[in-house]
Amino acid sequence: MTRVRAISNRRRSIVLMLFVIPVSILLAIVLATSRSRAAEPATAAAPQTTQYLPSISDLMIATIQPRHRRLWQAAQNRDWAFAAYETGNLKGAFKRLGEAHPTEHDISFPEMISSVTEQPLKALTAAIEAKDQTGFSKAYADLTDSCNACHQALGHGVVVIRTPRGKSVSDQDFTAATP
Ligand code: HEC
Repeated sequence: MTRVRAISNRRRSIVLMLFVIPVSILLAIVLATSRSRAAEPATAAAPQTTQYLPSISDLMIATIQPRHRRLWQAAQNRDWAFAAYETGNLKGAFKRLGEAHPTEHDISFPEMISSVTEQPLKALTAAIEAKDQTGFSKAYADLTDSCNACHQALGHGVVVIRTPRGKSVSDQDFTAATP
C-alpha cells in the first residue's frame, strides 16, 4: 500500500516537475519581453519631458521687448535700413509667439496680436520707407499703446511699456504700476 503510494507520489512529482519547469521558463520569457517592451516607450518619451516651451512672458522679454527698443534706437540714429529690418523681425517674433501660444484666456492669441499690432506696424513700415521721423514717432507711440492695451486687457497691467527716454535704452516704466 505505502509503496504504491510512494511510487504514485514520485510519479506525480515528476509530472509536476515536467510541467512546472517549462511553464516557469515560459513565464520568465514573457516577463522579460513585457518588461523590455514597457521600457521602450519610457525611453522614447524621455526627450519629451525635457522639451521646454518658453512662456508668453519668456518670449516677450526675449523676442519682443528688445526689438521694440532697438527699433526706436534705429530711428533715433536715422538708420532706416536697420529700422526696416527690425520691424520685419518684430513682426516675425509676434507671428511665432502666436504660433507657440495659440490661445490665451480661451481667446485666439494670434488674433489678439494682429488686432492691436497690425495697424501700428503698417504705419511704421510706411514711415520708415518715407524716412519720416514724425510719422515714425506717431506710429511708434501707437505700437507702444498696443503693447499696453493687450497687457491691460489680459490682466497684466503691471507691465507698462513706454517710448525709451533720452539716452536710456529702457522702454519699460517700472514706476507706474497699473493694477
Ligand atoms: C496680444 C497681447 C500682447 C501684446 C500685443 C503685447 N504683449 Fe507683452 N505680454 C502679454 C502677456 C499676456 C504678458 C504676460 C504673460 C505672463 O506673465 O504670463 C506679457 C508680458 C510682457 C512683458 C513682461 C515679461 C516679464 O517676464 O517680465 C514684457 C516686457 C512685454 N510683455 C513686452 C511687450 C512689448 C514691448 C510689446 C509691444 C511691442 C508687447 N509686450 C505686446 C501680451 C501681449
